Amino acid sequence: MDLRQLKKEAENRISLIKNTSDLEKWRIKYLGRKSVLSLFFNSLSKLPLIEKRKQGQEANAIRQLFSSLYKKKREGLETNFSFSSDFIDITQPGEKIHQGHLHPLTLILRDITDSFQKMGFSIIEGPEIETEYYNFDALNIPASHPARDMWDTLWIKSKAKNQKSKMLLRTHTSPMQVRYMETNQPPFRIIVPGKCFRYEATDASHEIQFHQIEGLMVGENISLSNFKAIIEEVVKDIFKQQVSVRFRPNYFPFVSPGVEVDIKLKQKTRNKKQDTNEWLEIMGAGMVHPDLFKRVGYATNRWQGFAFGLGVERIAMIKYHIDDIRLFFSSDIRFLEQF
Ligand code: PHE
Repeated sequence: MDLRQLKKEAENRISLIKNTSDLEKWRIKYLGRKSVLSLFFNSLSKLPLIEKRKQGQEANAIRQLFSSLYKKKREGLETNFSFSSDFIDITQPGEKIHQGHLHPLTLILRDITDSFQKMGFSIIEGPEIETEYYNFDALNIPASHPARDMWDTLWIKSKAKNQKSKMLLRTHTSPMQVRYMETNQPPFRIIVPGKCFRYEATDASHEIQFHQIEGLMVGENISLSNFKAIIEEVVKDIFKQQVSVRFRPNYFPFVSPGVEVDIKLKQKTRNKKQDTNEWLEIMGAGMVHPDLFKRVGYATNRWQGFAFGLGVERIAMIKYHIDDIRLFFSSDIRFLEQF
């Protein structure tokens, strides 16, 4: 076997190679298991020791040379592409990397809480499993009160005897009003974002679970017009445009007076169904009823405050033009991918 001849031949051929598939053929021919060189190594065993050593060393050097030739050539081909079959069109758009993203409700919750934080409100959280007392009685809604019909309730069966108050899934975030005031002194301003539950037949605008943001601001000389100014600022911040706000009288046993807050967007939205001249209801609100202050030991002649309960899904539906509340909890990727 003429090793020098083999070396020359291999060097010649590799210098002419222009693409990776030819290079792979070269590798198999000169470095593969069935290459001349490998067969040569196998045949060495039959030789006397001195010959074996000498020829073995020589062949080894050639194999190392071949490997390094191969490596260099491959790197060369990978970096200096030419207009051969290896051509890579670097102007072609890359494949889009699939990224996760936040749920529309998370986005809107963050928007709203950020907005209130800018105005000095602290964020407080409360329990989703509540007692009948905080969800109803403490809010002037005793068992016999007809207003209880406003909140269809999911009650929790309990085996515990002598339980003072029945348990339920909170139907609104308002129980945090009394809970917070029991342990804190005015003045303060807080918001309480959270999940609420109602025992309802679902349709495009009703879900058994949804989110509210409760708000409570108590201090000296707090009035409904303070509330209106704050809400105007918040909705402008959320919708990034001028928004009209109006109050309509409404009854909630734990506020007096009580109002329903409607908004009207001034700019045209993409949604044709949603007329810009339409007033859309976004929350219930009012001045905290003196009964609640008495219940927690605040001096009613000194402190006033307003409270509100904002419907988070409502805001998201208006902002993102979503026409069915059930989509939020559907886990439908086609819906979620749009945000
Ligand atoms: N908790 C009321 C509801 O769920 C909304 C509300 C909150 C009204 C605070 C007045 C004051 O309908």
